[in-house]
Amino acid sequence: MASVIEKSIRTVVTKAVGALAGMNRKRMPKLNAGNPYLIGLNQPMTEEKTIDSLIVVGEIPRQLDGRYMRIGPNPVSAPDPNSYHWFTGEGMAHGVRIKNGTALWYRNRWIRSNIVSKSLGEEPALGARNLRADNANTNIIGIDGRTFAIVEAGAFPVELEDGLDTLKHNPFDDTLGGSFSAHPHLDSATGERHAICYDAMSQDQVWHVVLDSNAQVIRREAIAVDGGPSIHDCAITKTYVLVFDLPVTFSMKSVLAGHRFPYKWDSDHSARVGLCPRKGSGKDTIWCDVDPCYVFHTANAYEEANGNVVVDVVAHETMFANSAIGPDSKRSRLERWTIDAKTQSVQRKVLHDHNQEFPRVNENYSCKLTRYIYSVALAMDANDEILSRPGTELFKHDVQCGEVQVRDFGANRHPGEFVFVADESAEEQGEDVGWLMGFVVDLESQSTELVILDAKDFCGEPQAQIHIPHCIPGGFHGNWV
Ligand SMILES: [Fe+2]
Repeated sequence: MASVIEKSIRTVVTKAVGALAGMNRKRMPKLNAGNPYLIGLNQPMTEEKTIDSLIVVGEIPRQLDGRYMRIGPNPVSAPDPNSYHWFTGEGMAHGVRIKNGTALWYRNRWIRSNIVSKSLGEEPALGARNLRADNANTNIIGIDGRTFAIVEAGAFPVELEDGLDTLKHNPFDDTLGGSFSAHPHLDSATGERHAICYDAMSQDQVWHVVLDSNAQVIRREAIAVDGGPSIHDCAITKTYVLVFDLPVTFSMKSVLAGHRFPYKWDSDHSARVGLCPRKGSGKDTIWCDVDPCYVFHTANAYEEANGNVVVDVVAHETMFANSAIGPDSKRSRLERWTIDAKTQSVQRKVLHDHNQEFPRVNENYSCKLTRYIYSVALAMDANDEILSRPGTELFKHDVQCGEVQVRDFGANRHPGEFVFVADESAEEQGEDVGWLMGFVVDLESQSTELVILDAKDFCGEPQAQIHIPHCIPGGFHGNWV
């Protein structure tokens, strides 16, 4: 525990840094074309809605009983467009409740961070905060009948009620003990969820955190790193959790410059992937060198008979090299990485050479060889702010045959992440037996559809399109719960 003197010094330093950052933020260059994360597809919503009467085209599969939920940043009050960073907007959850072939409601709700509560004239939400951060804006998951909004690097999970209102900030019933991640990976064989978690205030370690099927933390194992890498996602195999220690690191220079998201491309930081034993010590992590790049998201991983670990990822050539407002990248591609623990090396192979993001698979196949990956196209000419320029296409990759099916939603119609929902009731089972669900925003008609596709008939008529009469701003991740 820090002494009183140490605490006092830290307080003064933090205040001085904050004051300097605040001054520099006001001097940030004017974005003449506007901030792309506040306009067009990313125009924030200004109110919370509950819509009980939704127009549906097609037939919603009667087997579906639950909620499709997706979350993303949505500032509660107009930020300074010159310094606003997409990753820092207050979280807003969107959800559609489906039962008996009917869409019962659409709702959108801000996650009650202290800033949101104050702005809406409410008392602060219940529950503990971590590191004074409390903005959970990146993913929304269901565990054991409960719903959590989650984020990386600091803020605790926020538990929501079924209708998306905030219950309380809840570090998994006080079992968490630190920061969490936006990407816990379910092991469908054990019901455990595995995450690699980092903390903006700690530069020399990250943690392997495991949740049991009751949303209680059963492991928090430290793994030593250098330089405070930003680790957005992980992957799991039967034996390992994969640690993507890549050249995006905490930057005090960015903090002092007033940047809201203080992580930058760091060409001095070695790129490596760690194979951390799921059980055992973080000190036994096997580090394998890889060519510099950045990975936000993995699709799936598995172990080959020869002991190699194979993981499919979307790899960006660089990330956060220039922009102070969002994720910039020269290119992103779907790649297969083969990790050899014996030679501590990684072979990279391009599976699909088109800009893309948000890869998803049938999670019943976690830790196994998967044949199908679903991802969203990004524009090919977007060198900066790559994620502000989604394409109009959704991809179904057959990585066994090397084929890609392309579903184009048409001009001005932009899909977000699509999630795979297995049809457990189908007589014939298979990896792509089920549905794909996601929001498609139509900029022309200023509306959104929750589109449900038959995953086997990827380019055929949608099973159902649930009409939502406004644009849902571009966001991050969603799930069917
Ligand atoms: Fe993510």
